[in-house]
Amino acid sequence: MRYLKYCAVREETLLTPESVTSRSTYLDWDTQPSSFKHYPHFCHRLKLSDYSALQWLEQTRCITDKTIIAQKPYYRLNVPSAGNLHPIEIYVQLRNIEGILSGIYHLDVFNNELVLITELGIEGIEPFVGLENRFNGALVMISLVPFRTSWKYGLRGWRYLYLDLGHQISALEKSVHHFNYTLTKMSPQGYLNSVMGFGEDEVIAAVYGVGEMSERKVRGLSKPLIQVSPCDYVQGDNPLNPIIASEAIYTKLPISDQYEHFLQMNTNRRSARAFEPSTMNDATIHALLTIPTSATLDIIAVVLHAQSMQTGIYRKDVCIQSGNFLAECVHLLLNQRFIARANMVILITTEKFSATTHVDAGIYAQELYMACEAQGVGCSGIGAFYDEEAAQWSTHPLLYAVAIGGKYE
Ligand SMILES: Cc1cc2nc3c(=O)[nH]c(=O)nc-3n(C[C@H](O)[C@H](O)[C@H](O)COP(=O)(O)O)c2cc1C
Repeated sequence: MRYLKYCAVREETLLTPESVTSRSTYLDWDTQPSSFKHYPHFCHRLKLSDYSALQWLEQTRCITDKTIIAQKPYYRLNVPSAGNLHPIEIYVQLRNIEGILSGIYHLDVFNNELVLITELGIEGIEPFVGLENRFNGALVMISLVPFRTSWKYGLRGWRYLYLDLGHQISALEKSVHHFNYTLTKMSPQGYLNSVMGFGEDEVIAAVYGVGEMSERKVRGLSKPLIQVSPCDYVQGDNPLNPIIASEAIYTKLPISDQYEHFLQMNTNRRSARAFEPSTMNDATIHALLTIPTSATLDIIAVVLHAQSMQTGIYRKDVCIQSGNFLAECVHLLLNQRFIARANMVILITTEKFSATTHVDAGIYAQELYMACEAQGVGCSGIGAFYDEEAAQWSTHPLLYAVAIGGKYE
């Protein structure tokens, strides 16, 4: 049944040369729904930068760049996002943290604030995430806002939502790890959405704990929280909403390396828009080829430019077919020209096309972004590709690609 469901999802979200041509309509950026949720002005707010115990949260999702494009501010975050649309929100239940009122808060990334939605005492969300007692510390809930992505990408946005979610989960894990805390798995239930006051336009997609369970009893929140639209406007009958609502919450725990210069890397990370192949050496290519990944994924790397390494197709750092695949690779990735100067393209495939494997792929890609930043090379996630044409490299469906190359100064 699930297999049939994912066959249908894949089929309906395929990109082919015909579908790309027919979809290339003019997009009116003035109608873009807002990428940041705003709770009402009367809610109490905390400046995140005033609380050193919450630095890990501030670094989990934050604005790291602001420019002006077409006379409008254009924000970029520590996490990449397909089309820079950022269909994600974060909430935290904070309990028993010194100097902070226990309550459920929205992470207002735009203002770098925590917005108090409700205070807490004996009640909390613990029973809805599989906990019997009060959890001291933070319960982090990550939600998806499908309309922000479907506004531009239609049903194809299904894939980007889960890839973006993977990037965000990995960024959370890295930040928590950097500040020497531990991320804990939870067992969330679907009805957390109604408890959080969400309508059809927002869905909890992952929940983790940072802290520990106490001995004190807890009761589930008896009243849903206030309902606030995640965008300034939404499309009433968005076909993606019911599909996303029917997915299980992602519960796997990512584990990654600790980076000494995490803070700097988290701020400086950007998706590359141009590459200079001569500035990336073979040792860096080898190092990136051996980054561990989830067992659900099957990774193929196509080396396009190198110093003395063979160009061709690699599994881990073994060349399984030498050759020049540059033209095929660029075509596969919708002829995005800058990819022709990448040193390599990582193709993330899987036997099981599902929401979970897309999240796994996003987590791995975020690891690649950080590893590239640490190595001083550029990279970009590539979610736009002709699905069927990936068959020449793998019998498994392609979920995501990452183009990597020397920095273009
Ligand atoms: C799931 C996903 C798919 C993406 N697909 C593409 C793509 O096909 N082509 C591209 O040039 N960039 C792609 N990107 C990069 C985004 O355009 C980039 O993250 C966004 O513009 C924000 O810029 P930043 O990453 O520098 O913050 C993708 C990113 C993600 C997370």
